[in-house]
Amino acid sequence: MRVLVTGGAGYIGSHTLLELMAQGHEVCVLDNYSNATPQVLTRVRALSNGELGDVTGDVRDASTLDNLMQDFRPDAVIHFAGLKAVGESARKPLAYYDVNISGTLALLNAMSRAGCNKIVFSSSATVYGEPRYLPYDETHPTNPMSVYGRTKLMAEQILTDWAAADAPRGAVLLRYFNPVGAHASGDLGEDPRDIPNNLMPFIAQVAVGKRDALAVFGDDYDTPDGTGLRDYIHVVDLARAHVAALDYAQRHTGARPFNIGTGQNYSVFDMVKAFERASGRKIPTQVTSRRPGDVAAMLADASRANAEMGWQATHDLNDMAASTWAWQSKNPDGYGADS
Ligand code: WQD
Repeated sequence: MRVLVTGGAGYIGSHTLLELMAQGHEVCVLDNYSNATPQVLTRVRALSNGELGDVTGDVRDASTLDNLMQDFRPDAVIHFAGLKAVGESARKPLAYYDVNISGTLALLNAMSRAGCNKIVFSSSATVYGEPRYLPYDETHPTNPMSVYGRTKLMAEQILTDWAAADAPRGAVLLRYFNPVGAHASGDLGEDPRDIPNNLMPFIAQVAVGKRDALAVFGDDYDTPDGTGLRDYIHVVDLARAHVAALDYAQRHTGARPFNIGTGQNYSVFDMVKAFERASGRKIPTQVTSRRPGDVAAMLADASRANAEMGWQATHDLNDMAASTWAWQSKNPDGYGADS
């Protein structure tokens, strides 16, 4: 299949490119490199030993999209391109609505003009908001607590209405839990531009000596060790979920959400210990106050993805920590050194 991947040079996008190419798909990336570097594609090409098309451009730009649709004629699109920082979304709400909503609209308009009917969307478990029960299944009420989360939910709704409006259309909405880990080669991984917002990249930077200690955001939650519990999912498992979702989209019409998690959750201290084991280094920690907006626990019921797409996670906590360490130790400055 010919697959257009928007935001393909990003953390999850880049791992997905490799899985798509390994399955024999013909792939073209659209990225504006607002939070990525073209060096990523050089590494994907080296790792896959395959051909990969790429266009530099913005997903909101209709003429770029029309040209791409005409030249590449994708059978399906995987839509990653978007802004993703929860804290930043409160400070720059219009930027988030613009990129995440106008970007999705521009993409769907171009797909409609070109008769491209299938899309896989990078959504987030953050659409559920405060848990009414756990694990979250896909019928859990949605009530996102951030601007970022609202943009993901609105985009899901737009995709659902788009898919319903014309019979052959299909949209798969992948609600990711907490993606972590890296490619086993250590050549691809997460490369945050500033101080990492997320736990794993922060721990990894402490391990290589770029940061002194991990601030643990609260140890007074109602959880076994008092720290937050999350359903961490290895990025390679997540990448494979997109390949399964493409197959599913070919066989189905309408829109359908799927949780992509493992069904198991770990605390902040579990993650620290796993990383200490993988790296052989001590991770100093300091307990601080809770981070506003955090919930005590998240957990996925991923049984729908298993039953309907035949997908399930295969990588465990040790793989997540070991691959993150392989990436961080091999690339202490991320892609920065050679980009
Ligand atoms: C995990 C746990 C923190 C950093 C966010 C977004 C979500 C999704 C993934 C989207 C929590 C604790 C963290 C630190 C800590 N993003 N922590 N010290 O908040 O579950 O999810 O990223 O695309 O939408 O909200 O992930 O990795 O930030 O936090 O103690 O320096 O680690 O309190 O319990 P989160 P996270």
